[in-house]
Formats: sequence, C-alpha cells, structure tokens
Amino acid sequence: MLSHTIAAWIALGTLAAAHMAMVKPCTRYTPRGDNCPSLPPGQQLDYSLNAPLARNAPLCKHTVPYSTPVANWTAGQTIQVAFDRVGAAAHGGGHCQFSVSYDGGKTFAVVHEVLKHCFFNGPSTGNTPAVLSYTFSLPSNLPSSDKAVFAWSWVNAIGVREFYMNCADVAIRGSGSSYTGKQMVVANIDGYPEIEEFGGNYDTGLEYYKNAKSVTVAPST
Ligand SMILES: *[C@@H]1O[C@H](CO)[C@@H](O)[C@H](O)[C@H]1NC(C)=O
Repeated sequence: MLSHTIAAWIALGTLAAAHMAMVKPCTRYTPRGDNCPSLPPGQQLDYSLNAPLARNAPLCKHTVPYSTPVANWTAGQTIQVAFDRVGAAAHGGGHCQFSVSYDGGKTFAVVHEVLKHCFFNGPSTGNTPAVLSYTFSLPSNLPSSDKAVFAWSWVNAIGVREFYMNCADVAIRGSGSSYTGKQMVVANIDGYPEIEEFGGNYDTGLEYYKNAKSVTVAPST
C-alpha cells in the first residue's frame, strides 16, 4: 500500500512537471530547439520551458531576445510550428494561439489559432498529445522586421488553471506597413481573466477569443 502511494506521488510529480513546449521555431533559451543561436549574455538555458507561466511572470517568461533571429520568414509563407515530444503533457487540449509582436513582446496580434482541441484531433481527456506540429500560412500583409516576436500560447482544458506561452525571435520580410489582428488572449495569470477548467465543455472561455478586440502591430521606425 505504501509503495503504491509513493508510486502515485512519483507519477503525479512527473505529470506536474511536464507539459508542452515549442521547439520550432527555437523558443527563447530552450535546450531542445531547432536552429538556436547562442544565448544572450547573462542568460541560461531554461529546462522548464514546458511549464506554465508563473502567475506573476511577464509575457514570454523571458524578455531578453536572442541577438540574432532564429528564423527568416516571408509574409504569406507557410510555416511549421513544432512541439517537444519529450516531457509532453497536453492536458486534454484547450485553446492555442499563434501571434506576432513588433514591440518586443508587449502587444501581440493573432496570426493563427487552434481552439478547443489543441494537440488533439477532437475531444480527449488524454495527456499524450496526438498532434505535435501545426502548419499554416502567415498573413500576407505582415510588415518587415528583424526583431519580431512569434508566440505560441495555450489555455489547457483539464487540470489546474494555467497559461502557457513560449516566444521566438524571428525576422519577417513583408510589404505591409502594419498588421491588424485579434489581440492575443491572456488568461489564468495575474491581472487577466480566469478561464475555468473545461469539464468536457470545449466552448469554455471561447467568449474571450471571439470578443477579443482588434490590435494593430507595426515595427517602430
Ligand atoms: C537569416 O538570414 C540572414 C541573412 O541572409 C542570415 O545571415 C541568417 O543566418 C539567417 N538566419 C537563419 C536562422 O536562417
């Protein structure tokens, strides 16, 4: 009996420490990223990027960008965003967004979203993700910047209320002067609304996504 209890504790501890992390494009300070540059001075590899943001963490968790972009993208091109299989726990899915910022990670406009069943192909109470990458086109009117910030964010369906966000420093070539999209939803951290556990209702919290105001992002020149 005692050994069962200990085994359960260990299993729970493993689950609690393991969630989802973006590895492509290379997330700031990931030890497991695609094509990562050397770390900015004074920064260290982050071995817990698959954990949710602390309640008082800044957006992106790490606010100091890499000194060179981790990917060169062109507006309108198809990109693939991939997640780490190692240590993955997808908490029954939930709402994911992919967003861009041109002001160093303060203002994010959504470029793509996967609502309800992110990491799965439909309703699931599982923890093992069925989907580990998303491929989609960037908006064709994104403006150019060597210092754009690309973010993946996620509100989990099952479990403790959490907000996940990883950021990557990318260069974008485009001809637009600005991009207007929905403002990225932030929830479950200090100063933002709480989206409750879905309990099987995958529409939970969707009002925040549907009613998000438009935001215009542009490089400062
Ligand atoms: C992006 O393009 C620049 C200029 O061509 C190049 O120096 C750099 O290596 C490229 N970065 C990546 C991650 O491909």
